Amino acid sequence: MPTPHIRAERGQIADRVIMPGDPRRAERIATDYLEDAELVTDVRGILGFTGTWEGRRVTAMASGMGAPSITIYATELAREYGVRQIVRVGTCGGMSTDVAVRDVIIATGAHTDSTMTASRIPGVQFSHLADFSLARAAVEQAERMGGDAAIHAGAVFTSDHFYLDRPALTEALTAHGTLAVEMEAAALYAVGAAEKVRTLAVVTVSDHLVTGESMTADERETQFDAAARIALAL
Ligand code: ADE
Repeated sequence: MPTPHIRAERGQIADRVIMPGDPRRAERIATDYLEDAELVTDVRGILGFTGTWEGRRVTAMASGMGAPSITIYATELAREYGVRQIVRVGTCGGMSTDVAVRDVIIATGAHTDSTMTASRIPGVQFSHLADFSLARAAVEQAERMGGDAAIHAGAVFTSDHFYLDRPALTEALTAHGTLAVEMEAAALYAVGAAEKVRTLAVVTVSDHLVTGESMTADERETQFDAAARIALAL
């Protein structure tokens, strides 16, 4: 059963997956939140752990960074392991001044500069959409939890670039309602559409492109609790 990039046997992966970018964050979700967590894959250092959260089986597995990486793991999970739901939890850079560092964004849709989905359906400007029922459940869960973190629902920008400094692009995207930039959601949503898997990204604002504010390295490790708890409840 193992695929080129996942060594788990089929039954070792739950039908719902929480997917941070960083393998250490997958490990942290397993140790801090899951009961009876067991390492089920570690190919190329992309760690995956299966355990239970409030009595339900769930796998926490990393995606690595960027559209190609998350596309590989999400596709193999859907096709070979029968995964039905993948929720990305990660960080993003604020673009809109309506969002601040430490806020949480439920990404209902994702614009992108990646060519990955353009090559799926040539000639079409594909809409990268979260699963509606998951997005609604995430908003409801955030409302139930209350807490300090402000919650937003809206569009993010999935970029292939981390270091491309383009203020005019940020301005144009925010003028069209975009909240933040990250690097995986659009690709995950395209896999969701292609493989008939429910997908959502819940991302914490770790830095802000316009205000220049950013989390400390320690905060990046800890300020992640609200997004993780929203994702685990879905
Ligand atoms: N993830 C967190 N911050 C980011 C940024 N500034 N750009 C892209 N992805 C990010």
